[in-house]
Amino acid sequence: MKNISGKNLVLIGFMGTGKTEVGRLLAESLNRRLIDTDQVIVEREGQSVKDIFASSGETYFRQKEQELIQELSVRKGLVIATGGGIVLNTENVNLLRESGYVVWLDADGDTLADRLSGDTERPLLAGGADLAALYREREALYREAAHVRVDTTEKAPLVVVSEIIRVIS
Ligand code: S3P
Repeated sequence: MKNISGKNLVLIGFMGTGKTEVGRLLAESLNRRLIDTDQVIVEREGQSVKDIFASSGETYFRQKEQELIQELSVRKGLVIATGGGIVLNTENVNLLRESGYVVWLDADGDTLADRLSGDTERPLLAGGADLAALYREREALYREAAHVRVDTTEKAPLVVVSEIIRVIS
C-alpha cells in the first residue's frame, strides 16, 4: 500500500499519451484538484503554447514551466498533468519526485503517431518533426523521473485511470 494521501499525483509522459484527459478523470475520481501546467501557463500568459513559443521562444516557456513546478511542489493533494517537456529540467524532476508520486503515461510509437497526426497546436511537431527521434531522446528521462510506468496503448482514458488507482492503492 502506497501512502500518497499527502502527496501530489503527477502525470508525466510524451505528447499524446493522454495526460490532460487522464488527469481530469483521475482528479474527478479521487476528488482532487487538477492542475494542468500547460493550461496554467496559457492562462497566465494570455497566449496559446504555440504563440508563446513563436513570440518568446522555447526557453521562456521552459522558464515559466520551472517557476510553476516550484510553486506546485509546495502544495499537496493535487493531480498535476504536466507538459511533455517537464522532464528536460532536472530540478523539475527532483521537485516533482519529492512532493509527489510520479506516473509515466506511455504508448507505443504507432499509437503516438496516430494520436498526434494532424496536430497543429504543438510547436515541437511543426515542420515535419521526427517523432520517433524525439521520443528516443526523452524516453530515459521519463523512465528516470517516474515512480511507475502505465502503458496507455489501445486503452480508453477511464481504463488508464483505473490502472493508476490500482497502482496507488
Ligand atoms: C511539449 C509538450 C506540450 C507542451 C509544449 C512542449 C514537449 O505538452 O508543453 O508543446 O516539449 O513535449 P503536451 O505533452 O501536453 O502535449
